[in-house]
Amino acid sequence: MNNPIRKWLLKHLEFSIFDQLITKAQLNLGGKRLLDLACGSGYSSLLLEQRYQPTHVVAFDLMEKQIKLAGRYPTISTDRFIGDITALGLRSNVFDVAFGFGILHHIKGWKQGVREIARVLKPGGYLVIEEPNGFSAEFFRRFVRYQIPKEGHFTFTELEDQFQSAGLQIINFKSVLLPCFRAYLLQKL
Ligand SMILES: C[S@@+](CC[C@H](N)C(=O)[O-])C[C@H]1O[C@@H](n2cnc3c(N)ncnc32)[C@H](O)[C@@H]1O
Repeated sequence: MNNPIRKWLLKHLEFSIFDQLITKAQLNLGGKRLLDLACGSGYSSLLLEQRYQPTHVVAFDLMEKQIKLAGRYPTISTDRFIGDITALGLRSNVFDVAFGFGILHHIKGWKQGVREIARVLKPGGYLVIEEPNGFSAEFFRRFVRYQIPKEGHFTFTELEDQFQSAGLQIINFKSVLLPCFRAYLLQKL
């Protein structure tokens, strides 16, 4: 997605809440390796670079078109590739923090996606992610005409159970636009 409303929401709502979770946990992401999951048109990678000065951001998306759009941002430490979150083809235990800006509900096979995220995170690494519950996903599918697979209509309990079974422990979470979305900070055990 590459429209001004999405960019505004990404920066002032999701990114701002992620930053609050990171600040509260006193995490310093300077010099770290970050993963921008299903990055879409890539604005999130620019925000991550500007705010945290990581050594390296790796960003991927399933759609070649999105990766091409992402290449227009003036990032300096971001590498991008076309990739499937359910089978990343990356080495295990390499990233300090992974970020997901509203992505799992779009993914067929999202449970395998959660396992892949856990696999590529270092032990002790973090996942920062925001997702809608099934009710909100259905609202977006019907009224905003988002293409959301039926499988992406999960409850927060189902999502949290999957985090737990993948070895990702909830450190903190914030409800966003009560009770429609949750933003999580999780740590790989
Ligand atoms: C709503 S967009 C979010 C994009 C971006 N994170 C943002 O906030 O603007 C969801 C993205 O997930 C991508 N996607 C869907 N299935 C995927 C998969 N299996 N692996 C990687 N990306 C996928 C889509 O191409 C799309 O760019």
